[in-house]
This record gives sequence, C-alpha cells and structure tokens, in this order.
Amino acid sequence: MSEGRKITSTSVSPVVHVCSDPAERLAEALVSDITRYEGDFHLAVSGGRTPETLFKLLALKYGDLSIWGRVYLYQVDERCVSPDHEASNWRMIHETLLAKVPQIKAFRMEAERDDAAERYEHLLRRHVPLTDYGIPRLDCVLLGMGPDGHTASLFPRAAACQEEIRLVVNTEGPEGGVPRVTMTFPTLENANVRRFLVVGQDKSEALRRVFEGEPLPAQRLAKISEWFLDPAASRLLQLRQDTS
Ligand code: 6PG
Repeated sequence: MSEGRKITSTSVSPVVHVCSDPAERLAEALVSDITRYEGDFHLAVSGGRTPETLFKLLALKYGDLSIWGRVYLYQVDERCVSPDHEASNWRMIHETLLAKVPQIKAFRMEAERDDAAERYEHLLRRHVPLTDYGIPRLDCVLLGMGPDGHTASLFPRAAACQEEIRLVVNTEGPEGGVPRVTMTFPTLENANVRRFLVVGQDKSEALRRVFEGEPLPAQRLAKISEWFLDPAASRLLQLRQDTS
C-alpha cells in the first residue's frame, strides 16, 4: 500500500486519496472489494487513456487470482466506432485487461449499432441485480474526468446530463469528436461504489471547480465517490489531512 494520504476535502465531502501511485491504490481497493464480496461482482469501467495503467496493473499483479470468474464487466461509455477502431474504449479494455484475464465475463456496448443504448439498458437490467426501484445496482463504477469536467460521456450542457429515466443513452461527443453511448446519472448514482481515477496537471483546474461545487458533470457524483488522484491533478485543491 503506497504512502498516500486519505483526505476529506472541505467544500464537498468525498473521500480523496492523493498519492504518487493512485492507480495502484485503486487497484488494491477494487481487488479488496471483489475478494470480500461473496457472489458475482458487477463492475462498470470507463475508457479514455487514464485507466490503461490501472487495467494493465490489474492483469499483471492480480490477474492470477481466482476472483475474476465472479466478475461481470460492463462499459460506462463508448465511442460510436467499430471495436477495432483506435478510438474504441472496448479495444483498449480488451487489450489491457480482458485478453489477459479471460475469466472476466465482459459485455461490449456495441456502440456502432443504432440501437446500442436500448440493447445495453436491457442487458444491464437482465444481468445486474435491481434495487426496489427497478434500477440496476452495479457493485462498482470506475470513472475518469476530462479537463472540461465531463465524466463517462456526460459532457457539459449535453441533454444526456438531464436524463433521469433511461439508464443508457446516445449523446454527442466532445467538440468534433465521434458520437457516444453512455450510462446516465441514474445508473452511475445507483451503484454501490464510484471510484474516480484522475491524474495529470491538465485536470487540476477542472478538479478545483468540481470540488468547489461548480455544476460540472463530474460534480454531480463528487460527494458520493472516492477519488484517487496524483499530486499534479490535486495541486489546486484545498484539502485538509484526514486525522482519523
Ligand atoms: C471516454 C471516457 C471519459 C474519460 C475522460 C478522461 O470515453 O473518454 O469514458 O469519460 O474518462 O474523458 O479521459 P482520459 O483518461 O483520456 O483523460
């Protein structure tokens, strides 16, 4: 376990870990959760570049554990491209984790299909245990954050951020980027645990805005999430050391 500090921030009340190896800390926490759970573990993962380190670490350091046969893996979001496209989140997740840990039961979002969102919502409802309100309760969601404060593929001012009924929707990508399919806030908020992995100085301004309560997409999950940050990403945060 790295030396990182477990800190509770002042303006919102998430649990924030700042350390030199946040991916390692998150991997430890995730493997600990899966190990402690008895039954199937329903895990949703984001794409982008940041999680590559985490997925490679999970495969390299923990890939031989017997826990993976109980893990069902879902995509938080996907770009509307084929699975072999360089921008495909599935391609990255498969290359860095699934190809090395084939015991994981993984479900591709098939975002190249026009009906991908509806199909994935049905798939979630079929596989993931439902709450009393009929919403799938994922055991853990792994999230990233963009420099604009987006998370999943929920971009600032996008209509998808206002969706309160559907679990998965189509949405536009970032400026000029390809369209996306994404889990919505009801799905993400309903999960048991949300963990953000955010690294790099280019995220520090967005993190400051989120932790100061500015209504950016990631802020909606800030208080109910655990954050794993490196010093560069957290450099603008007003954090106090958790003395507990
Ligand atoms: C995606 C991700 C997205 C990502 C952030 C951060 O499809 O791009 O799901 O939400 O987490 O954009 O991306 P980086 O890790 O590449 O900075």
